[in-house]
This record gives sequence, structure tokens and C-alpha cells, in this order.
Amino acid sequence: MGFDAGHVPVLLAETLELLAVRPGGLWVDGTVGLGGHAEAVLRATAPDGRLLAFDRDAEALERAHVRLAPFGERVKLEHADYREIPERLGDSAEPADGILLDLGVSSLQLDDAERGFSFQKEGPLDMRMDRSARETAAELVNRMRESDLADLIHEYGEEPFSRRIARAIVRARESEPIRTTTRLAEIVRRAAPRSRRPGFHPATRTFQALRIRTNRELDGLEQAFERIASRLRAGGRLVVIAFHSLEDRAAKQAFRSLAARGFCVLTRKPVRPSEAETRVNPRARSARLRAVEREEAAA
Ligand SMILES: C[S@@+](CC[C@H](N)C(=O)[O-])C[C@H]1O[C@@H](n2cnc3c(N)ncnc32)[C@H](O)[C@@H]1O
Repeated sequence: MGFDAGHVPVLLAETLELLAVRPGGLWVDGTVGLGGHAEAVLRATAPDGRLLAFDRDAEALERAHVRLAPFGERVKLEHADYREIPERLGDSAEPADGILLDLGVSSLQLDDAERGFSFQKEGPLDMRMDRSARETAAELVNRMRESDLADLIHEYGEEPFSRRIARAIVRARESEPIRTTTRLAEIVRRAAPRSRRPGFHPATRTFQALRIRTNRELDGLEQAFERIASRLRAGGRLVVIAFHSLEDRAAKQAFRSLAARGFCVLTRKPVRPSEAETRVNPRARSARLRAVEREEAAA
């Protein structure tokens, strides 16, 4: 397998430091992806630290399975949404020493045209992280009412031209349903004024909005972070890496509620990647990391 910069885990050193990884213990990776962070956690927790890893993408799990095979019994992979972590850990299970959530899409998903995440690659407009899930982005875009589409693109894409874009989508699908990434990208490009930001494609925000909605990425997120943090042992830490402001806001709010319950927020401001990191890995650019620690007295 080629190892391009896109496969390098984001904010790796910062993640390991804030998780306070050390030999032994039980660690959880809720979004194992290609297993980059997971591999580093397994190395740092050798010889007997255990890692429970989840992903909702079966293909990612297959890749992670191969990569993490050398760690044998120390690692267990499960196909699940990380929002189910509390249930998956069970009522009587031991608390975790550290939990990592590296949100968003993996390079595997972005780079594969067939998955339909990228407006730069022609492919079916799919965008499902879990391919056993019901509705694709194409089904959404061809089914939703114009006003709902506009609201969606505005809310999840933070797109100022959401109404124009929704109108253009509805007009275009009247002649023929929208089936591919590149057709949608072209419809949006024509509807939205050119951005002044160099290298910023006008379809970026619309694609983000559709991806979030297709995967219901923000549903119950804040509560999920709080419930997940309650599975930590005293001194255990939750690290969340977000890639857009809506996810980061949910983490920030959840951590504020946790602070009121006796957790300690370790990052007053989110940790951002260094210039050196974004030079090597441009996808790290929008990453923001926040961490919280469960104190002895936390409720
Ligand atoms: C940025 S990648 C993780 C990369 C990983 N840390 C690595 O080092 O290779 C995000 C992963 O999270 C998964 N994912 C996103 N939302 C999820 C959810 N709600 N539950 C489980 N996995 C999710 C995606 O399928 C994707 O594989």
C-alpha cells in the first residue's frame, strides 16, 4: 500500500501526550480509520495495554485489521458508531484509561472516487461512511424540498449562498436526477459566486453539509461526548479532534458541561497543527483538538 501524506495521523504527538498514554490499561479509539493513531497508542502502551477500536466504515476496519494484526490479542475491532461506545463497553465493564475520537472522513474515504466524498473525483454521489446505511447523498439531494435543502446547506455547510445553490439543484434535477459528484460540484460552481479564497472550491461547503446530513454526524453529538467521558476512570482522558466548527462547538459545549461536573478541561483553547504539519499534510489544516480529564471527584 502506498503511504502518502494523507495517511499520516493528524496531531499525533499532541494526541499521545494529551491522552497520557503509558504501558498497560484499556484504551478506546472510537474512529480507528486506517489505524494510524491506534498503532501509535498500541506501541506506547506495550507490552500489555489493550485497545478497543470502532469505526462505522467496514472497509476502514478491514484495513485497520491488517495494520494492527501484529498486536494480536491486544486489539479488538468492532463495526459500530462511536456514539454507541458507552453501550458497547457494557454496564459492568472496566472504565477506560483514555478515549480518542478523531472525527470526520479518512483519506481512504476521500481518495476513493467510488465513495462519492470528493467533488474533485467523478463518482457516484454516495458519501455514506457506513455503506449498509440507508440513504445516499444522491437520494437526499434528489428528494429534499428546496427550502429544506437550503436550510441544510446553510446550517451544516455555513454556506452564505445556500438559497441560490438549493434553487440551482432543484432546477437541475428537474431535467435529470443528480447522480454524480462532479455534476453536483458543477451545479454549485455555477450557482455560487467565485470565492476570494485561493484554492477554495465553491462546492466545499455544500459537500460538507450533505456529508454531515447523510451520516447524521452531528446528531446527539454533545450528549454523546458527555456519555463517553463518563466511561473514563479517574485520571482518564478524552481527546476529540474536530475538523469543522460545528463539531468543535459540540466538543466545546460538552466539555463545559463536564467541567461543571468536576472534569478538568486540559485545553483552554483548541490545539492546532503546526505549520510544519500542515505543510506535510494539508488535510490537517482545519484540525482542532480538545481534551478533558476525569477527576477523582467527578460525577
Ligand atoms: C479522520 S478518520 C480517522 C483516522 C485515524 N485516526 C487514523 O489515524 O487512521 C475518521 C474515521 O472516523 C469514522 N467515523 C466517522 N464518524 C463515525 C462515527 N459516528 N462512528 C464511528 N466511526 C466514525 C470514519 O469512517 C473514518 O474512518
